[in-house]
Amino acid sequence: MFTRISLTMVLLSLLPALAAQPLYQPLGQPASDLSDKPEWNLTISPDGQGLPAGSGTASQGKHIFEQHCAACHGFGAIGGSAMPLVGEVGSLASEYPEKTVNSYWPFATTLFDYIRRSMPPSAPFSLNSNEIYALCAYILSQDGIIEADVELNAVTLPQVTMPNRNGFSATYPQ
Ligand code: HEC
Repeated sequence: MFTRISLTMVLLSLLPALAAQPLYQPLGQPASDLSDKPEWNLTISPDGQGLPAGSGTASQGKHIFEQHCAACHGFGAIGGSAMPLVGEVGSLASEYPEKTVNSYWPFATTLFDYIRRSMPPSAPFSLNSNEIYALCAYILSQDGIIEADVELNAVTLPQVTMPNRNGFSATYPQ
C-alpha cells in the first residue's frame, strides 16, 4: 500500500514538469516557409509556366537517354523492364490501346516536370535543365512529334502539340 501511494505521488509531482514539455519535439517547418525552395516549387503548367532556363536537342538527348534511362526503358525508349515511352501513337481508339507518353499525354510540358522530379528513380533531381530539355526532345522526336533538330526550351516546349491533346474532356463544368 505504502509503495503504491508513494509511486502515485511521485508521478503526480512530475505532472507540472510534463505539462511544460511539448508533446512532440518540433520537427520540420511550416509549409509556407518552403515556397522559396526550388525543390518544393517544381510544378510546370501546360502553358509552360515554371519551366526553367536551358535548352536541348534530340541528338544530345539520345546520348543522355542511353546513359541514364535505356537500362529500364530500353534503347530507343521502346520499353524494357519499364514501360515504353514512345510509339503506339493513334492506338488509343483501336482494339489494343497503348498509353505511352507520345500516344497518351496531352501536354509536352508534363514530360519535363515528370523527368525532373522522378527520373531516374534512383536519383531524382540529378539531371540539369539542359539534360531534361534534351531528353524531352529525344522522346518527342522518336515519333516525329517534333523534328529531330528542334531545340526545346521554355518557349518551344509549350508550343509542342501532343497527338492526344484533345483526347481528354473535363468532368466538371469550367
Ligand atoms: C531503374 C529503372 C528506371 C530508370 C533508370 C528510368 N526509369 Fe523512367 N520509369 C521507371 C518506372 C518503373 C516507371 C513507372 C513509374 C510509375 O508508373 O510509377 C517509369 C516511368 C517513366 C515515365 C512516365 C511514363 C508513363 O507513361 O507514365 C517517364 C516519362 C520516364 N520514366 C522517363 C525516364 C527517363 C527520361 C529516364 C532517364 C533519365 C528514366 N525514366 C529512367 C523506371 C526507370
